[in-house]
Amino acid sequence: MLNINNLKASIGDKDILKGVSLSINKGEVHALMGPNGSGKSTLAYVLSGKDKYEVNEGTVDFKGKNLLNMNVEERANNGLFLAFQYPMEIPGVQTSFFLRTAINAKRKFNNLPELDALEFAKLLKLKAQELNINSDMLKRDLNVDYSGGEKKKQEILQLSMLNPDLAILDETDSGLDIDALRIVSEGVNKARNKENSFLVITHYQRLLNYIKPDFVHIIADGKIVKSGDYSLALELEDQGYEKMAKA
Ligand SMILES: Nc1ncnc2c1ncn2[C@@H]1O[C@H](COP(=O)(O)OP(=O)(O)OP(=O)(O)O)[C@@H](O)[C@H]1O
Ligand SMILES: [Mg+2]
Repeated sequence: MLNINNLKASIGDKDILKGVSLSINKGEVHALMGPNGSGKSTLAYVLSGKDKYEVNEGTVDFKGKNLLNMNVEERANNGLFLAFQYPMEIPGVQTSFFLRTAINAKRKFNNLPELDALEFAKLLKLKAQELNINSDMLKRDLNVDYSGGEKKKQEILQLSMLNPDLAILDETDSGLDIDALRIVSEGVNKARNKENSFLVITHYQRLLNYIKPDFVHIIADGKIVKSGDYSLALELEDQGYEKMAKA
């Protein structure tokens, strides 16, 4: 699915990613953990194609294609999805309109017929109910004045509507109350199947109790310093980053 090899990226003259290598196969869930400022969000942004980052070295292969040659839209249309650590507010764009536009753009790209208003409304109602999202929220402008947790839920709603091949979740758990954490995790688990993959960025092992990862990676100072299975997250919770990153 995704093959990152020796990826180096910078912003201005600051090197942030210093040789990241990571492979994610179909059907796998990988967790990425690491101290503040270690480059987790940067990796997510570079993969999603945000333009302020410069890739200086390395390759990224996504479903057999060179991801780095694609623009943001092409990446999304090809099945990549990023749930942001800080979701954007988009005044003037109703949430349901945004979702419909996003879904139909992807369907069009994949030579599928667009969903008509009724089909879309049905799907949206179903998915919103699963995530316990009130239908009034969907009439409001995208993320505008949503609470922190509501924005995170909205990201998972987009995910479950779009059905990406690879979803990157950047701290989707932060700011969620206990019930929302469970609901969001259930949403992710429902979206999970043998054909798709997830990269879950988190600080807390708690989320990984709900979304059981196949692999856990620790990133420190722009490099993956340790990889293992779920037990690595438990070890980390126990020992903290400083010890683990050096070990
Ligand atoms: N525009 C920028 N100019 C200079 N430095 C930047 C810029 N954007 C990011 N950085 C730096 O890059 C480093 C990595 O940031 P990044 O957001 O990837 O960290 P992170 O691992 O996601 O941290 P957190 O756990 O706090 O979310 C940080 O030191 C940050 O200050
Ligand atoms: Mg971050």
